[in-house]
Amino acid sequence: MSIAIAIDGPAGAGKSTIARLAAKELGYIYVDTGALYRAIGLAASRRGYTAENKTEIIALLDSIKVELAFNDRQEQIVLLDGEDVSGFIRTPEISMMASAVSAIPEVRAFLLDLQRNMAHTNNVIMDGRDIGTVVLPDAKIKIFLSASPECRARRRYDELIEKGMDVKYEDILNDVIARDYADSHREIAPLKPADEAIIVDTSGEDLETSVNKLMTIMRENI
Ligand code: DC
Repeated sequence: MSIAIAIDGPAGAGKSTIARLAAKELGYIYVDTGALYRAIGLAASRRGYTAENKTEIIALLDSIKVELAFNDRQEQIVLLDGEDVSGFIRTPEISMMASAVSAIPEVRAFLLDLQRNMAHTNNVIMDGRDIGTVVLPDAKIKIFLSASPECRARRRYDELIEKGMDVKYEDILNDVIARDYADSHREIAPLKPADEAIIVDTSGEDLETSVNKLMTIMRENI
């Protein structure tokens, strides 16, 4: 039986960085499910669709293939129709599109088996919004990772600036607040902690402190 650890929480709480490091420590595969929604957001955006084109986005699902793969450093890459699109899915525009497509039930259903199959065949740390509540309700450990919107916006801002992108802190903060609202108020699989989730707040903590905190929780509960 493979072991699954679910980490849910809002954008910028540090889920991916922490989960990636923890997976390395435990020898598990790290699965970033947000990348799947981002790939669909990218596919929609490349066709010129906006959040209003729900019908077209649903139809699009019949003609695209989204896959997860791992490079030789065991890092996840996301393939859209066989193309590695990992480098195109982290822009603010695709973040908003990903949030929009993720509210469409057909999109969530489209990605469900892919996520479950990853956990069926591997020990995984999977991060997202609904992993503990919907995708892997039997996960061995469920963690809900959060931090204040300002703190999350600052982290995302620093990340994008480091990548050489021209962004403003206020825009990022507004995006964070808008996405939090959209992700936690949608009808299907809204962002919320699973009943048995361990809630961890990383506001004001450095990465090392948060990773250590999570590693302790995981080791005590595996
Ligand atoms: O984690 P992220 O920022 O890369 O996710 C992008 C969007 O995808 C986010 O706005 C919400 C959505 N998402 C989701 O609805 N369910 C998941 N399991 C992961 C992401």
